[in-house]
Amino acid sequence: MTTTSDIPEPLIAALRDARHVCVVTGAGVSAESGVPTFREAQVGLWAKYRAEDLATPEAFMADPELIWRWYRWRRDVANEVEPNPGHYALARLAGIVPRLTLVTQNVDNLHQRAGSRNVIEFHGNIFVDRCFADGTEQTADDSLDVPVCPDCGGPLRPGVVWFGEAIPEDALNASWAAAIDCDVFLSVGTSSLVYPAAGLADVAQQNGAVVAEVNPNPTALATGFDFAIGGTSGVVLPELVDFVSL
Ligand code: OAD
Repeated sequence: MTTTSDIPEPLIAALRDARHVCVVTGAGVSAESGVPTFREAQVGLWAKYRAEDLATPEAFMADPELIWRWYRWRRDVANEVEPNPGHYALARLAGIVPRLTLVTQNVDNLHQRAGSRNVIEFHGNIFVDRCFADGTEQTADDSLDVPVCPDCGGPLRPGVVWFGEAIPEDALNASWAAAIDCDVFLSVGTSSLVYPAAGLADVAQQNGAVVAEVNPNPTALATGFDFAIGGTSGVVLPELVDFVSL
């Protein structure tokens, strides 16, 4: 359990003085809502698969039905859970600092449901579907069979970014601009293993930002950061935001 004394005073001071705060979140921020993180073992029917092996265009081409069902299951999980105090704290922080850019690698909509606005969805959104052939955004029902695109007849796929695919250009540009411009950068609940998202902290640091991580398991990148707070986001973020707002 993280206590208030674990939050470094200079980080609170930097946040109070900040003109622009950039926050990048990963699966860990949704863990306390009950959404499994990406790299922990899966459960139930999916226990025999590694998430990394399912989240690729090759996996979809090999077995569209399997991948479609996996994402429908993940979508159901996201629908059934609620945002946790970490999500709400970030929405609150946006009302305290002059400018906040929130970039998430999560596709579960929980930041938005907690009240965060203009969230940059780095890896897309699980509640959006797209045509695998022509890329157009489509709305499919909850069928477990792979629906077809009404325009071209191609299979529909979830509107997320898979390994080996490009980050949406707008999301990439806006995130990079925020990392360059911000004066405090927070990396929360991410293993920082997947690039380009993991590179944003370095961009921020190169451009003079104070960089901090919130993660119960410090990542390999954390040794290079200014601060690494070893606690869960649902505990640390509300405390941090309380201090900043004092
Ligand atoms: P990971 O599953 O790789 O990492 C989750 C991180 O959250 C780990 O470092 C955990 O220690 C940390 N964590 C666990 N519980 C936490 C809590 N309560 N509070 C704070 N941190 C906690 O997830 P990501 O880093 O998000 O991309 O993975 C990045 C990307 O890899 C995902 O967006 C996905 C995946 O491949 C694509 O699908 C393209």
